[in-house]
Amino acid sequence: MVLGLGSCSSMSSASLSSRPQLHHHYNLSSKLANNNVKSSSCAVRRKTGGVAVVKAAAYSASSSMADHGNNKAVLGIVFKPFEEVKKELLSIPKMPHQSLARQGYSSHCEAALNAQINVEYNVSYVYHAMYAYFDRDNVALKGFAKYFKESSMEERQHAEIMMEYQNKRGGRVKLESMLMPFTEFDHAEKGDALNAMELALSLERLNNEKLLNLHKIATQNKDVQLADFIESEFLVGQVEDIKKISEYVAELRRLGKGHGVWHFDQMLLNGGVAA
Ligand SMILES: [Fe+2]
Ligand SMILES: [Fe+2]
Repeated sequence: MVLGLGSCSSMSSASLSSRPQLHHHYNLSSKLANNNVKSSSCAVRRKTGGVAVVKAAAYSASSSMADHGNNKAVLGIVFKPFEEVKKELLSIPKMPHQSLARQGYSSHCEAALNAQINVEYNVSYVYHAMYAYFDRDNVALKGFAKYFKESSMEERQHAEIMMEYQNKRGGRVKLESMLMPFTEFDHAEKGDALNAMELALSLERLNNEKLLNLHKIATQNKDVQLADFIESEFLVGQVEDIKKISEYVAELRRLGKGHGVWHFDQMLLNGGVAA
């Protein structure tokens, strides 16, 4: 016999009690049933037919008659939302200057993220100084100027993504001071192009170390979410950037300071991707 396909909750005990073959299910389920069984019985019923459906319906119908005090004996774990939420309600800050969203976010992680925001800004600042240098009329390497301008913007964007995350976790963004970067990037042996690109490589490698250190602090503080944020948003791209700039440095070392630099500059102008 297959019962109708109406909703589980609409199954009345009266309609079921007219079916004597189900009585042993009632007896059994009156001891066992609880709200969890009720919901899972609906799932069983959706998937199966015949006897299984009848059993599922019996559990469902009897759950309304069940003694809720027996819940624990059935499944071992019973989520009691209105009981368990009490401690969360007590832990919600009352003062208006306190973050409501902050949860498991240590002051160490907050400070470390602020430090990294400062690193990103500093790297952005140096790249911006490089842009200004290569954009000069007597230097005129427009590809390098474009590349470093985009790199500067990207690092600033990294800082902003971190600021957004800081607020998301209920931390406070604290911007720190920055040192004045170099204004000259020429080098007697290397020339300006190679010298600047080697500096860019050093900055990205340093930034990678700082990011790994931030990830370590997140791990030490058991902050899985911060660790995941650093991994997914920054660490993958950082490795790719370091590879790309390493290739640029290798190519520029082959070119020397002469005519080849102009071709390299054209390459950057027409499609080089910022790190
Ligand atoms: Fe960055
Ligand atoms: Fe970068």
